Amino acid sequence: MNNNQDIINEVRRKNDIVDVIGEKIPLEKRGKNYFGVCPFHDDTNPSMSVSREKQIYTCFSCHATGNIFTFLMNYEHKEFNQVLSDLANRVGITLSGFKTKKVSTKYDEWYKIYDLANKYYQNNLLSKEGEGAREYLKNRSIDDDTVKEFEIGYSLKERDDLTKLLTMKGHSVDLLNKIGLSSEDHDIYNSRLMFPLHDLNGKVIGFSGRIINNGKQNKYLNTKETELFKKGKLLYHYHIAKEEARVKKSVIIMEGFMDIIRASTAGIKNTVATMGTALTKDHIKEIKRLSNNIILCFDGDEAGVKATLTSGELFKSEGIEVKVISLPGEYDPDTYILKNGKDAFQGLIDNAIYFSDFKIKSLSRNRNFASSEEKANYIHEVLEEASKINDTIRTEIILKNLAKRFEIGYNTLEKSFKELVNNKEIKKEVIATPKTTSSKKKDKYQKASLNIIYYMLNKQDIIDVVESEHLMFPTEALRALESEIVYFYHKYGFINEADFYTYLTPKEELLNLLNEVLEMDLKTTLTKEELFDYFKVIREYNCKKAINSLEEKIRNENDPVMQVKYAEEIRKLRIGES
Ligand code: GTP
Ligand code: MN
Repeated sequence: MNNNQDIINEVRRKNDIVDVIGEKIPLEKRGKNYFGVCPFHDDTNPSMSVSREKQIYTCFSCHATGNIFTFLMNYEHKEFNQVLSDLANRVGITLSGFKTKKVSTKYDEWYKIYDLANKYYQNNLLSKEGEGAREYLKNRSIDDDTVKEFEIGYSLKERDDLTKLLTMKGHSVDLLNKIGLSSEDHDIYNSRLMFPLHDLNGKVIGFSGRIINNGKQNKYLNTKETELFKKGKLLYHYHIAKEEARVKKSVIIMEGFMDIIRASTAGIKNTVATMGTALTKDHIKEIKRLSNNIILCFDGDEAGVKATLTSGELFKSEGIEVKVISLPGEYDPDTYILKNGKDAFQGLIDNAIYFSDFKIKSLSRNRNFASSEEKANYIHEVLEEASKINDTIRTEIILKNLAKRFEIGYNTLEKSFKELVNNKEIKKEVIATPKTTSSKKKDKYQKASLNIIYYMLNKQDIIDVVESEHLMFPTEALRALESEIVYFYHKYGFINEADFYTYLTPKEELLNLLNEVLEMDLKTTLTKEELFDYFKVIREYNCKKAINSLEEKIRNENDPVMQVKYAEEIRKLRIGES
């Protein structure tokens, strides 16, 4: 009889991890493993290792780890079931016996409501009352196809149709209030063009409404923040960009959604925008998943330049140097494309410059180079910026340009530059040393435990030995992981790292620990003596712990008879220990 886990394991086994990953990124064999550039962080070195023997990948740099399912889920941004069915198709397995369990959540009703509202607004736009809105869109050169693609709709004038419709369908006014569509029993949105907001997976989780006749109201009105919609996390158009970014091998960040929509009409769809707020670390985390090649294309005005500088720095602090497109002052991407056409805009994309170069350029704005002090300050700031660049060719170009522009000897500049770099390196070392020694260093008990767990996963007979020895691991997490291994092994009659990884995936708190084990690469043979040495270390730990707690008891005990009894127990433990 087939159960889900058996089918999952079969699909995994028939899809060799080296072949499947090798279809996505180039892998090169070195020793018994294969290596490639890790797609999950910004890198150019082959720091991801893929093991054919273990059917596991691990990145030594960002520590991304897992099996073929997690690789594809992260690489293609798909749900587990989708990846499972892709891989089943790849090797001709039919998933007919497979039961997907649909987990229903309290958000199902929210999604249903937002979907209904979305359809409702779209219908309004096509109705008689939507004429003014249609006119507005036409004047902005947004055609019917684009309206459809972006699901643009319209909310009616000062009426409460949506609230009525939704309550008639059985949804409570309370819920409509809570999820930002109604206030009391009135519609929130009136006479606005409606843009649905999608979450990262493409589900509607809110709206932004734009006025169509410029009055004194706010131009855009967003759904209030809810459990599903958080401005600091949401990126407009992400669900489309995630496919496109892979094809174009880049992602472009813009400021407004009109910019995104216009770029889309020009065939440029690898774009995302924030909801008019500054980029957050959460945004950056999501954007980094799309591509390492990130391009900022903000408005050409002063505010846009400022936003470019702060966003670029934020990316830098997350280890990525973005590229920048700077538009002439009066343009945003929308108006630029309208005026100059898509080829001109594509040209700007192709010629995007590195953030450092953008910053160096912007450093010279509003400066009076007639003053030699100002000149020197500027040169020092440029050198400082250049010293952060990890590319000698680029820094040489910068120094050469500086030398030419300010008529300074190249050698003089180079000398100051080298001093700056050296000073930095010394500082870095001073700061780095205490950090690396203190952080994340494992004690010998932790190490012994992880070694035992490693061998339990790689040599099944070790599981029996561990069980019969009633070994007690030092931490709760280690004990939980051990008991999951034992459970899996007894249930399926075998264990390997790759299948066990699938099984453990829903238990996130244990997954980190398993990842540590998967990153280990211990020798294949293990003698009984070595195994028992590990056991001894664990027992020593337990013994120490027991002694500590007995000593504590003695301190808190007034009865001398009991004190002697505890002391005797400690003595016995000490003998056992040695
Ligand atoms: P158009 O003016 O129609 O071209 O829209 P836009 O997308 O170009 O807007 P703009 O460049 O003025 O602003 C950029 C982004 O900031 C918008 O897409 C919105 O997300 C946000 N934004 C602008 N105005 C408002 C506002 O009045 N309220 C809120 N909440 N957000 C706004
Ligand atoms: Mn605009």
